[in-house]
Amino acid sequence: MPVNLGVLVSGRGSNLQAILDAIQAGSLDARIATVISNQPDAIALERAAAAGVSTRCIPHRDYPSREAFDEALVAALREAEVEWVVLAGFMRVLTSTFVQAYPHRIINIHPALLPAFPGTHAHRQALEYGVKVSGCTVHLIDEGVDTGPIIAQRAVPVLEGDDEETLGARVLVEEHALLVEVLRDVAARKVRIVSSDAGGRARVVRG
Ligand code: GRF
Repeated sequence: MPVNLGVLVSGRGSNLQAILDAIQAGSLDARIATVISNQPDAIALERAAAAGVSTRCIPHRDYPSREAFDEALVAALREAEVEWVVLAGFMRVLTSTFVQAYPHRIINIHPALLPAFPGTHAHRQALEYGVKVSGCTVHLIDEGVDTGPIIAQRAVPVLEGDDEETLGARVLVEEHALLVEVLRDVAARKVRIVSSDAGGRARVVRG
């Protein structure tokens, strides 16, 4: 049975497109049960609709609190029988209400080599710091911001003269490939959590 994914988006949706393309090409044994956006005008919603995937818009501004918004997201995901949640450019921080509804089943793609440069404006931070290598990270969501167990990373060089746009474009190519690669392991039920010693950080193994 293909794994049932729910994809949360806020904007452009190029990572969503990479997933849709891989499914369409038969190289990813997954089904996108629903795409949910908090932004009504997200291009990602158009991409999903063009691929025949059902979409929902749940605007965060319609809810009195982060928890209430997260409860609405969880209800929509449960209704669609989602097994794994993919955050593909979803620009809201999730509360523990959400995280505990899908323990170790929420994947995020971040455009830096975590734990360096968490949060928004990762490319700006990387350029300001002067790192010579950056990249992207696919990780599980925990209750912090970009702190959850790392599943996979890819590096790209930072070149002389790079700006946010050129670095971002170079990283984005790797994001698309890495996210699909990780989802193949999710589909094959190969992404597992191992806890090290008592009180230690949870770690992910693939295989
Ligand atoms: C990507 O750079 C992703 O790493 C970050 O937000 C961006 C989303 O891009 N979390 P897109 O909407 O998938 O094109």
